[in-house]
Amino acid sequence: MTSVAITGIGHLVTADPALGDGSPLGELAGAALVLEGEQVVWAGVAAKVPPADTAVDVGGRAVVPGFVDSHAHLVFAGDRGREFEARMAGRPYAAGGIRSTVKATRAASDEQLAGRAAALVDEMRRQGTTTVEIKSGYGLTVHDEARSLAVARTLTPETTFLGAHVVPAEHLDDPAAYVDLVCGPMLQACAPHARWIDAFCERGAFDADQARVVLAAGATAGLLPRLHANQLGPGPGVQLACELGLAAVDHCTYLSDADVDALARTGVVATLLPGVEFSTRSPWPDARRLLDAGVTVALATDCNPGSSYTSSMPLCMALGVRDMRLTPAEALWSATAGGARALRRDDVGRLSPGARADLVVLDAPHYVHLTYRPGVPLVQAVWQGARPVTGSLAPGS
Ligand code: NIG
Ligand code: FE
Repeated sequence: MTSVAITGIGHLVTADPALGDGSPLGELAGAALVLEGEQVVWAGVAAKVPPADTAVDVGGRAVVPGFVDSHAHLVFAGDRGREFEARMAGRPYAAGGIRSTVKATRAASDEQLAGRAAALVDEMRRQGTTTVEIKSGYGLTVHDEARSLAVARTLTPETTFLGAHVVPAEHLDDPAAYVDLVCGPMLQACAPHARWIDAFCERGAFDADQARVVLAAGATAGLLPRLHANQLGPGPGVQLACELGLAAVDHCTYLSDADVDALARTGVVATLLPGVEFSTRSPWPDARRLLDAGVTVALATDCNPGSSYTSSMPLCMALGVRDMRLTPAEALWSATAGGARALRRDDVGRLSPGARADLVVLDAPHYVHLTYRPGVPLVQAVWQGARPVTGSLAPGS
């Protein structure tokens, strides 16, 4: 196995508090990394870098862990740009818009779905995302959910069965029968392709009892449960997530004090999705309130054609800092180590020995530029599994 040293790192974020300055981001100035196989085998100050087979000098740039986008819906067809346009003119967002994407998704070929999803993963990678979770949820038949997950599985190990996204049009007169379908034949067809099971626990989608039944069926089939909750208004979803001890509960826009207490007490990760509040012009989740209460916060894009059609983790970090009162360091932690916690992964979201060598070289001297320079393409290069996958390192520059 050949090793490669990444040298000339002006500022390194390891996101391992055991390294560097002792902060949660484990920061080191004047640093180097050594990668071997698909892993980081050494991280430290440049003066102490051990010998490696080859070396790449990043010319004083900052290096951060690849972003972990723990919530995305990338298997779909169609376009809802006009819906966004109407919202910006004052129309409210409603969960029912999902059904228009369902119609387009069912009509698309496997090749069309796979091509679109792969293009979005590539778009994410070029912006520094090296781990992505992908949900089904726009098929809502046994066949269309299973093929959505088969597509997702070719792109990531973090696949989520979201048959309980909304009740599809043909079942609106009997939602209970649809829940039975999700928990029975649909789950059976989807479980082989999925690691996770999710439900949209919200007015207009599924109530707490329905979500509980769906998650329990998924758990029996060997899937790990997670939940969409408290996006459009206060509701029971966060309490349900805490009662069940889920890995994460996502959205968390409308929280009571009891919800915040329950999240802090149980350690369930609150995944905030500011792209949604941006594109639905909704109130921002209060990340500061969560962090001050001791809740673990992750940031993700929720990339989907309806409520948040961005694939950019840096945009979500910038919104987190500007509008949700995270510090730049907290936003970066939430987009890396926080996302890893939300996916129950300890091999990503950090750059220390034993982690996957998934890293982003920024064309900037410090990670603060990620949020200080919003909208600017600062990703110079991305490495995944110790190999460069996009961008240029401009050696010697
Ligand atoms: O996470 N909340 C539920 N699902 C998506 C919205 C999907 C859509 O509008 O198509 C979300 O925001
Ligand atoms: Fe979502």
